[in-house]
Amino acid sequence: MTPARQARFVWGAATSAYQIEGAVRADGRGPSIWDRFCATPGNIANGDAGDVACDHYRRFDEDVGLMAQLGLDAYRFSVSWPRVIPDGVGRVNQRGLDFYRRLVDRLVTVGIRPYVTLYHWDLPDVLQDRWGGWIGRDTADAFVEYADVVSHALGDGVEAWITLNEPWVSSWLSYGWGSHAPGYRDLQLGMQAAHHLLLAHGLAVPVIRRNTPRAEVGITLNFSAIDSASDDPLDVQAARAADVNVNLWFLDPIFHGTYHEHSLVPESHAALRIRDGDMAIIKAPIDFLGVNYYTRFTIRFNLSGATPFGDYVEVPHAKRTTMGWEIHPDGLYDTLARVQERCAPAKIYVTENGAAFPDTVSENGEIRDPERIAYLQSHLDQVRRAIDAGIPVAGYFAWSLLDNFEWTEGYRQRFGLVYVDYATQRRIVKESGRWYARMIAASRAATPPGA
Ligand code: FCB
Repeated sequence: MTPARQARFVWGAATSAYQIEGAVRADGRGPSIWDRFCATPGNIANGDAGDVACDHYRRFDEDVGLMAQLGLDAYRFSVSWPRVIPDGVGRVNQRGLDFYRRLVDRLVTVGIRPYVTLYHWDLPDVLQDRWGGWIGRDTADAFVEYADVVSHALGDGVEAWITLNEPWVSSWLSYGWGSHAPGYRDLQLGMQAAHHLLLAHGLAVPVIRRNTPRAEVGITLNFSAIDSASDDPLDVQAARAADVNVNLWFLDPIFHGTYHEHSLVPESHAALRIRDGDMAIIKAPIDFLGVNYYTRFTIRFNLSGATPFGDYVEVPHAKRTTMGWEIHPDGLYDTLARVQERCAPAKIYVTENGAAFPDTVSENGEIRDPERIAYLQSHLDQVRRAIDAGIPVAGYFAWSLLDNFEWTEGYRQRFGLVYVDYATQRRIVKESGRWYARMIAASRAATPPGA
């Protein structure tokens, strides 16, 4: 028997709608919960907002040109729900949908495969008012309607669909401890939002498949390495609780149809509203798992700490990015190995990995960012290690194509392979971008045609 031929590794870069598009009032787009969250003073560094961002909505042609220049195989972007269905349900805004049609067509024309995320956190604001956003079960049904519209309209050009990006962030972090839109601080609500997001995913998978039988369908979860600050049993227990909450809360139901027995708040688990049949829906078979990985968190128990688990402590001498995130590449391998052992997905894509550093433009107009190159290289080494160990990692998407609006950090964190001068909207490919392009070209040259 000959082993199945391994398809060629997919090299990509990722972005999301609210972080790059701008044009928040153009062509009939409705407001999202992020527009409202940014308008509240104190929520975002420097009072920044995504109103203009990278103006990608108007400059997408130039940006696809940059992707082609980098030699990307694939581009992961997200669709803005309030651009397509401004009222959350019902009326479709054709002008909004047309933007994504043009983008997909342009990508396909230059030979770049679209990987489309349906929900990267920008919920139509009307649904927040009507049903409490993801606290309301109806929002899951509204998502399915939206997924149906988009997959029907763009289907033939799309290579892969990602139902949700990091539902942990858009539930626990957003409704549970209030760091992101809509900014609620109630763990019970966080958990309920998490369940409804999972339900939305499970309900949407068969609808997307029906509309686009040739495309892959999956979901992207965030993972972090998590360690205890000491051997003290309280710290160990806090780290364990954080690990289950961040790394397993979504993974287990998607692959096994059950929630992990060590819930963050057992009494909330008892109060969680789950209907008969929900867990079977959530377990809908998927073609791939998207893994986002950036860092390691080290946890010290503290009942009134910065998070429900305790405090994040800084490991002395550890290298960090400007986000304050520790650089811990081994954690990527450990994550991939654990996911493989626990769930054995048919395929894994690393759908995000990257680093923010204080990039500056030199006198000759260049951006030298050796730290970003080192970060990416060291994480790619771990991807290689995973592939060598037989883990089916099929692609890697650098976060991000462009510097962009980094949520509560505003524009002060730069993650791009391409620098954006926000005053002029001029793009400059960083040294890391040129390095990435060379690596893709070398990998292509090493892979025989047709492989
Ligand atoms: C991830 C998000 C992405 C970006 C990176 C830095 O959690 O999915 O939008 O903000 O972090």
